[in-house]
Amino acid sequence: MIKLCVNIDHVATIREARKTIEPDPILAAKEACLGGADGITLHIREDRRHMQDEDLFRLRKIIKVPLNLELAATPEMIDLALKSNPDMAMLVPEGRNEITTEGGLDIAADINRLRDMVAALTEGGMRVSAFVDAKEEQIDAVLASGCTVCEIHTGQYAESFINNNFVIDNKEVQHERANVHTAVQYAVGLGLQCNAGHGLTHLNVSGIASIENISELHIGHSIVSRSVLVGMQTSVREMKQQIEDSSHE
Ligand code: PXP
Repeated sequence: MIKLCVNIDHVATIREARKTIEPDPILAAKEACLGGADGITLHIREDRRHMQDEDLFRLRKIIKVPLNLELAATPEMIDLALKSNPDMAMLVPEGRNEITTEGGLDIAADINRLRDMVAALTEGGMRVSAFVDAKEEQIDAVLASGCTVCEIHTGQYAESFINNNFVIDNKEVQHERANVHTAVQYAVGLGLQCNAGHGLTHLNVSGIASIENISELHIGHSIVSRSVLVGMQTSVREMKQQIEDSSHE
């Protein structure tokens, strides 16, 4: 079965809206685990707009499922990863003005610098993943960088689903799905663990969960959004059920 790693950043977004102590992302992570989350993911952004360093260290102490840290490839963030020792470090691009991660990392263009960072994280005991667009040259570069895990960006599939009136069978949506499918099989063929994520929701996850050979889905905004209405445990349970119903295994 595909594993579900729940990104809880946006619980901290609500907290930071008031710069107060609630809702506590650590409690949200515990609830997500009770709902069946197989892993917890957080992104410490350089501008600390949602998750704070203290959240990371508290999660590391309290959460028993694998903890995944999304981070920009900067010396400050590599240092934070080495100090907090998550199970997986996930390299992502970061832009100051973006609302969320906008595209995959151009790892092919930055391979020499990234290779040293991947080596440092690997020596620190972490699995290292890179978030890339569904393109062969980027997946080749993930392997060349020393990462053992590749996460395929599903944002274009998600955008297409919205632009085509939420119809999953639409030709354009299916074209984007096919790009993700091809990329996943290519990455797995190279020996990489292949994960996927971004923009997945309770409505569109079936198109991606039905792709063979995906190990983990990383989903955040939709799960947290739905949890505001039905609670975190239920929101995670519903997403797990959607994945299970669509999955091949
Ligand atoms: N994967 C990566 C690499 C991301 O940067 C994000 C967003 O933080 C996600 C998955 C989750 O995306 P979403 O919040 O749209 O589910």
